[in-house]
Amino acid sequence: MKGIILHGGHGTRLRPLTHTGPKQLLPIANKPMSQYALEDLREAGITEIGIIIGDVYPEKVQEFYGDGSKFGVKITYIFQDKPKGISHAIRLCKEFIGTDRFIVYLGDNILRKGLVDYTKKFQSSKSDAMILLCEVDEPSRFGIAELDKTNSGKIKKIMEKPKEPQSNLAVIGVYFLTPKIFDIIDKLKPSWRGELEITEALQLLMENGNTIEYDTVTGWWKDTGTPEDILHANQLILDTIGTQNQFVLSEGSQVKGNIVLGKNSTISRDSFITGPAIIGDNCNVGPAVRIGPHVSIGNNCSLKYCDVENSILMDDCSIDTKIQISDSIIAHGSQITNNHQAKKHQFLLGERSQVKL
Ligand code: TTP
Repeated sequence: MKGIILHGGHGTRLRPLTHTGPKQLLPIANKPMSQYALEDLREAGITEIGIIIGDVYPEKVQEFYGDGSKFGVKITYIFQDKPKGISHAIRLCKEFIGTDRFIVYLGDNILRKGLVDYTKKFQSSKSDAMILLCEVDEPSRFGIAELDKTNSGKIKKIMEKPKEPQSNLAVIGVYFLTPKIFDIIDKLKPSWRGELEITEALQLLMENGNTIEYDTVTGWWKDTGTPEDILHANQLILDTIGTQNQFVLSEGSQVKGNIVLGKNSTISRDSFITGPAIIGDNCNVGPAVRIGPHVSIGNNCSLKYCDVENSILMDDCSIDTKIQISDSIIAHGSQITNNHQAKKHQFLLGERSQVKL
């Protein structure tokens, strides 16, 4: 079996973060979100992976993943000129896939329990596709599957963001497919939003007499399309990080809960870290800093006097002021300095932002 990771799209809901790179490289607990997809595929035994790269800094994806050898996989890059839809992206992989069965993983989806069991199930089954379903609160935001009440185990219909959803079962962004899907995609017309939809391809696959199996997601699944989704995914991952509390604290500092602290990072005078939290390499935290819970801090950051909760700070950021920050995403190389009063602030800062308060 082969794997495909979708790394295209424009990520408009995440601007300004996506003005300087694809959303799938944004870090969740200090790891690009698409790396979770790649590791899930590798763990399921899939090492031949095609990555669809789009028109938002595709070279950053190639620079990060290279030929895949650093990650124990072999990567082929496939270029999509514009985000013309998930089915369009899949169609571009026909040559790469050949006659294999394959898995398509949207690079902005994170699945807590990985793919091992589902992959075994699909490998040993004769069905033409398998989808994974997850109960959601707002079904009209998702592709939805309606099950056949008279024939258990069968799907009746698959629809994209229905106005009046007949079920709350979202089709998540991991699709198990066979090359049959390529001819089906050739028959699709762009939807109202100008995209070749995956839900329409799956529906047409069924209408053409093919079998689609489904399984339900256990554990959590997260589609990280908005800043709120990213912070929620960060919380969910941090809740599982465990601890590496083998560091020396300076006087007056304290840590509580699970903390991962990178190489050459220090927590200095009168600082208080509440886990779960992750701090990258070469960071200086303190004096008088409070961090956590649910904070991810990248490499080479310097934090003084601030209070940060439920937030992501990427690499090379510095905060040197008495400020309370919560529910924020602060991109690479941003600086916050010079505050005169302590107040609570919320930020969504693109790369190299500067805030003077
Ligand atoms: P979406 O979240 O639907 O689209 P987007 O990433 O462009 O974001 P926004 O709606 O905020 O503008 O895409 C789902 C996933 O599929 C995501 O990982 C990007 C990827 N994708 C492609 O690779 N090619 C495409 O043509 C499309 C539409 C999405």
